Amino acid sequence: MSQEKLVGIIGWPVTHSLSPKMHNYAFKTLGLNYRYVFLPVDTAPESLIKDAVLGLKALGFVGANVTVPHKEAILGLMDQVSDEALAIGAVNTIFIKDGKLCGHNTDAPGFICDLLDHGIDPRGLNVLILGAGGSARAVAYGLLKHGAQITILNRTESKAIELKKALSESFSADLIKCAAFDSESMRKHGQADLIVNTTSIGLLDQKATPWDEKIPFKEGQVVYDLIYKKTQLLDFAEQSGAKAINGLGMLVHQGALAFSIWTGEKAPVDIMKDGLLVS
Ligand code: ATR
Repeated sequence: MSQEKLVGIIGWPVTHSLSPKMHNYAFKTLGLNYRYVFLPVDTAPESLIKDAVLGLKALGFVGANVTVPHKEAILGLMDQVSDEALAIGAVNTIFIKDGKLCGHNTDAPGFICDLLDHGIDPRGLNVLILGAGGSARAVAYGLLKHGAQITILNRTESKAIELKKALSESFSADLIKCAAFDSESMRKHGQADLIVNTTSIGLLDQKATPWDEKIPFKEGQVVYDLIYKKTQLLDFAEQSGAKAINGLGMLVHQGALAFSIWTGEKAPVDIMKDGLLVS
């Protein structure tokens, strides 16, 4: 039998990630001799992430996914970076090709694929994005690339403004607005066609919500939470008559795109979805 090929996920903490389960199920079902492993890498000392990435190369890994909090820092450690990852300012997929570290971002197309799967074409949509962190960067880029206009609300407003500035290098600044993360802005912009939560509110505390529940959603609106379980935000959206979508589909699609980059094979999207459900 040929030598097993290794991929994995770099993050901190990372043991909650569903990616190993999803990818290993797909590798097994397709009979591919790959294994996907957890790669916990702490944030301190700062040099650790560089050592870890060089270690992947030394250990003959095919590549890796990268998650919080390393997606931005890892970009500068790549030998090559795709145009998309460069514009987003974050790498979530590394492919080691001919000894070179190539950085990609599959979060943005993964998010768009899932919207399309739900019958939502971003073209011409007015979208409200909650948060301005690493995930928001990818979501905003994907939406603008596919013809939407966006408003970003973030607790630290300077980060939203910084994100607008970065995105304005690839898209018209007229398509991007920023506002404070407060009830007044939610009321003003809450009628958007699509509301996307990219903040971590609701991730650990299921009752916590980024939304002011005095402001109802309405039928015809779509509320998308990147967190991949039912959250208070999605419950409230459903109660208001809006369509509620969690981040499970995005997880699958970003993973499927990474799978194709590593293996050169068409990714088995449905099998990867099934992989998340097996116990
Ligand atoms: P990710 O890569 O998942 O986006 P991140 O870059 O750490 O993670 O971003 C987390 C986002 O959630 C940020 O927009 C953060 O707001 P700040 O920029 O002000 O930190 C937002 N966030 C986290 N906890 C929050 C809270 N309690 N209230 C409001 N926003 C919060």
